[in-house]
Amino acid sequence: MNSIQKEIRSKTKSLSIVIPTYNESKNIVKILDSLRVALTRDMNAEVIVVDDNSPDGTSKTVEEYANSKNPEYPIHIVRRENKRGLSSAIVTGIEHAKGDAVVVMDSDMSHPPQTIPKMVEELQNPDCDIVVASRYVEGGSVSGWPFKRKLISKGATKIAQHGLGIKIKDPMSGFFAFKKHIVNNIKFDAIGYKVLLEILVKAKDAKVKEIPYNFIDRTTGKSKLDLAVSVAYLQSVWKLYRYGKSVKTNERRASVHFLSKAGRFYTVGASGLLVNYIVSFLFGAVLSNLWYLYATMIGIVFSMSTNFILNKVWTFEDRTFEPKKTLIQYGLFLGFSGIGAVFQLLMVYGLVELRHVNYSIALFLAVAVASVGNFLLNKKWTFQEKVWS
Ligand code: GDD
Ligand code: MN
Repeated sequence: MNSIQKEIRSKTKSLSIVIPTYNESKNIVKILDSLRVALTRDMNAEVIVVDDNSPDGTSKTVEEYANSKNPEYPIHIVRRENKRGLSSAIVTGIEHAKGDAVVVMDSDMSHPPQTIPKMVEELQNPDCDIVVASRYVEGGSVSGWPFKRKLISKGATKIAQHGLGIKIKDPMSGFFAFKKHIVNNIKFDAIGYKVLLEILVKAKDAKVKEIPYNFIDRTTGKSKLDLAVSVAYLQSVWKLYRYGKSVKTNERRASVHFLSKAGRFYTVGASGLLVNYIVSFLFGAVLSNLWYLYATMIGIVFSMSTNFILNKVWTFEDRTFEPKKTLIQYGLFLGFSGIGAVFQLLMVYGLVELRHVNYSIALFLAVAVASVGNFLLNKKWTFQEKVWS
């Protein structure tokens, strides 16, 4: 794409405003009224209200409004049977959106519609894909929230910033706009409230701009943010964290992966020598009446066990400890070590006696072949991985 084409493509020509509602019949009229003032004709806007069958008849209120007040912009109502959460309502709204830009906002007048034109204007910039209306950049603020709610919001923000590497100041915002094509390939989890966070993580190359706004707590009706929503937040952060990790590992080439595991396997092997030596020495020294060969055997068993645990947890990243499976793995691991030892003996013998190779070279070759074989066998059979991965 040349720069002119990019410029043309980056201009958004139509706008969908997604408003999720649950029991907001008192607020929705106010927000629809103020949108009439905020939206201009050239924005080419539609409004999509996503209502989860609110018992207070919110969708009926919207329908009457659309029919009687004759607004300048079309209003669509998407009705869902059950209350399925804010994020999922927003995702449904996005699916119905026809605009090439989308604005998401609450219906309780906490998100001032006067901010929308500024958001749309920022989106016209080719270097901007997402505009976040932010409480925490200079000029932004929160009014009407008790200390506790402010603290929770800040805590959740810190978790997102440190846990998920999010750079912006207000990733918890429920008020944002984006070019619709950036979410085309996203598979949403849509858990709880934080759909913006999910977009920021999954559309990771998108360019984000924050602009300030003043959040005003609702004066009518109740917040729907309860304990379940907070728990859902932690769940969604965990899922996004796992998502981030899986994207990173997929990007890595198999060769890099393979070598990194081999490196870990050999490091564990070296640590085993040390464990072997120290444990054998301690048993021999402390229990002075213990036969030195017994002490050596204890050292071997001990180091094989630490090798197994380290390889399981660290080298092959297998953190399930289901007893039966772990025992079978342990058995296989010991078995392969035994086979490796016997192989090594035979190979040294063969090279020295039959081929007249110098002992130190024979030993080196045998150790190398046995340990590579050991790595591959354990990778494939003990930890059930593809060999080249
Ligand atoms: N359809 C549908 N289904 N709508 C819902 C549901 C649901 O299950 N749950 C909540 N909503 C709607 C509400 O009717 C309201 O329009 C909007 O989602 C926000 O709900 P509130 O309960 O008012 O949330 P809040 O004020 O505590 O928090 C909001 O503002 C924060 C700051 O921007 C949310 O937008 C948060 O995500 C945001 O962090
Ligand atoms: Mn609210």
